[in-house]
Amino acid sequence: MSAPLPIVRTVANLRAQLAAWRAAGERIGLVPTMGALHEGHLSLVHLARQRAERVAASVFVNPTQFAPNEDFEAYPRGEARDAELLAGAGCDLLYAPTAAEMYPQGFATMITVSGVSEPLDGAARPGHFAGVATVVAKLLTQAAPDVAVFGEKDYQQLLVIRRLARDLDLPVEIVGAPTARAPDGLALSSRNAYLSAAERESAPAMQAALQDARARLAEGKTIEQVELTGRAALERAGFGPIDYFEIRNAETLQRFEGPRPDGPVRLLAAARLGTTRLIDNIAG
Ligand code: PAJ
Repeated sequence: MSAPLPIVRTVANLRAQLAAWRAAGERIGLVPTMGALHEGHLSLVHLARQRAERVAASVFVNPTQFAPNEDFEAYPRGEARDAELLAGAGCDLLYAPTAAEMYPQGFATMITVSGVSEPLDGAARPGHFAGVATVVAKLLTQAAPDVAVFGEKDYQQLLVIRRLARDLDLPVEIVGAPTARAPDGLALSSRNAYLSAAERESAPAMQAALQDARARLAEGKTIEQVELTGRAALERAGFGPIDYFEIRNAETLQRFEGPRPDGPVRLLAAARLGTTRLIDNIAG
């Protein structure tokens, strides 16, 4: 058993604790999350630990990044379990603000990142990345960490946050962490808890389709052919509707002009399995 994790719920208390560590010359790592933690989140804590003497994690189910028809209310919550897992992973502090602390009465500022946040999940979930950018800008300003770690599981989100940190001159190193997966290839996600037993069996087909697509691209098939085959594979596995199965520039998320990639490649997919929306991506 690890010692209980200290929990702070206000910006003032967060800053007081972090200031004490900073005064002792310790570097600070931040791992923002929405809780319902799994090994993927904990791998970010481990990575942050390698880069900083102190690691704070935040757990905040951010209302501004959920559309009215999405799963904000249903999103799994369990602070005691999260705190125990974080302590076990070597985290030093849990920041768990209330919605009123994060968005006090009169809150009126939203941050939008254009370009990289527009296609893919930006198109499928209007307003989502403005909510993410706003809360992450706030967390990075509140904690002022030396490093902040985000997962490649949410690849577009990682690019949006890198852009945000550069554009706002936030003095933080944004570190991307590889996707933690179940042995059958399914990317770990808090939303996997929504899957029925049968859906859970079908779910790894998304990862398999992405890997298959990468192999076809390497064989010289065109982007269009590979995307069509990938969508068909998802449909056969019971996914639908499919939001996207696409091959894009890994840095800009733009589509390639010609039939074959002429720059760094990322393959990305998002689709519903039953009522659960799953996303995944791999490098090309
Ligand atoms: P959440 O979905 O809780 O994810 C928190 C962090 O864990 C994100 O950086 C995400 O990319 C990473 N993560 C999730 N699953 C992972 C996996 N299987 N392997 C590696 N990393 C994984 O993403 C959010 O919360 C929110 O949008 C947030 C950034 C906290 C802003 O509200």
